[in-house]
Amino acid sequence: MSVFVMKDGVLHAEDVALSAVAARFGTPCYVYSLKALRDAYAAYRDALAGRDALVCYAVKANSNLAVLNVFARFGAGFDIVSGGELARVLKAGGDAGKIVFSGVGKTRDEMRAALAAGIHCFNLESAAELERLNEVAGALGKRAPIAFRVNPDVDPKTHPYISTGLKTSKFGVPYAEALPLYRRARSLPHVEICGIGCHIGSQLLDPAPAAEAAGKLLALVDALAAEGIALKHIDIGGGMGITYRDEQAPAAADYLAPTLKVLAGRKEHLLLEPGRSLVGNAGLLLTRVEFLKHGEEKNFAVVDAAMNDLARPALYDAWHDIRPVAPHDGAACIYDVVGPVCESGDFLGHGRELDLREGDLLAVMSAGAYGMAMSSNYNTRPRAAEVMIDGAQMHLVRRREALEDLFDTETALS
Ligand code: LLP
Repeated sequence: MSVFVMKDGVLHAEDVALSAVAARFGTPCYVYSLKALRDAYAAYRDALAGRDALVCYAVKANSNLAVLNVFARFGAGFDIVSGGELARVLKAGGDAGKIVFSGVGKTRDEMRAALAAGIHCFNLESAAELERLNEVAGALGKRAPIAFRVNPDVDPKTHPYISTGLKTSKFGVPYAEALPLYRRARSLPHVEICGIGCHIGSQLLDPAPAAEAAGKLLALVDALAAEGIALKHIDIGGGMGITYRDEQAPAAADYLAPTLKVLAGRKEHLLLEPGRSLVGNAGLLLTRVEFLKHGEEKNFAVVDAAMNDLARPALYDAWHDIRPVAPHDGAACIYDVVGPVCESGDFLGHGRELDLREGDLLAVMSAGAYGMAMSSNYNTRPRAAEVMIDGAQMHLVRRREALEDLFDTETALS
């Protein structure tokens, strides 16, 4: 059941009218529902009931401190990809011992910070990274917990930009190189082999590729065990898709079922790294119509949010539902909903049937994941505010950026 519903002719987030959010905090504004976050997390928790499993929320999807704090309170772990994300998780009250650190380019400083914090595991993505981590940990007199992110060469059948487990991808280590890498790791004094992982892609709707990848990981786990290298955990990554338009997105239990079947009876601890499926449909981007431009060929609704606020349409041609907050009952027109940024690619939606007036509020749906997290200041546009709704309460969880915030880090030549 969606938490974004029409009541008395106005779209609400839980018990709060979105018009009230706009009146109080202005637009553009990201709006999140605490209940939706709770429900999405509960779906994973229930699907994993009775298993030794840890959900490590992929911070990159939405790294607002309030969002991280919500998941930390639920007992979640975190999947991070930078020192910045590490600092965010710690600041939000996350448990360092439940952090996995992914990413192809970890710097020495980032490794040191993660070792000092005492994270659960480094997901290594190359032989060179193994050598560097061994050296950095040695200098600190520590042993770094490691897993290799193995590339199972499974086709996740999703957008090519977000397919990450193919042979051609920059991510992970090739399947055939995994055994030699673990042998090398065993010989190094400052790393401790803990597990194995993969992440095959994002916005996956078919559960079969994930199960196939898990099976390939298990074959490696068994081959390593035969050599006396025992792994404590298997990390199956994230990737479960959500409904943006008319996709049949699976429930967490249905998505995970085939993978859990493959893993049945295994003693290894299970880690998961979901991002989008925990936050995507828990958020929307609230924006206001500035102008309507009716042309011979096309009609444009120019709104106050743009590609710098929500890059997914421009970047991936991604489709987000666009709903009027207070619909009129007149005749609809076909609009391209566009932002004020000076790029033809600056659109939030093409060809939408809407009945609009200047000043109307629109909700760009399913924007909780990779929305604010990928926003920028392009065209010197201060970034949007973020508001968390909890029942009838609104919490400002990130104030709107001021122009001064942007200028603060810059200096003119003297
Ligand atoms: N683990 C790793 C190592 C990842 O690289 C990712 C996402 C995840 C977990 C979380 O995947 P999810 O459950 O969210 O699918 N900006 C793109 C998505 C990029 C995903 C990158 N990696 C978008 O807006 O669709």
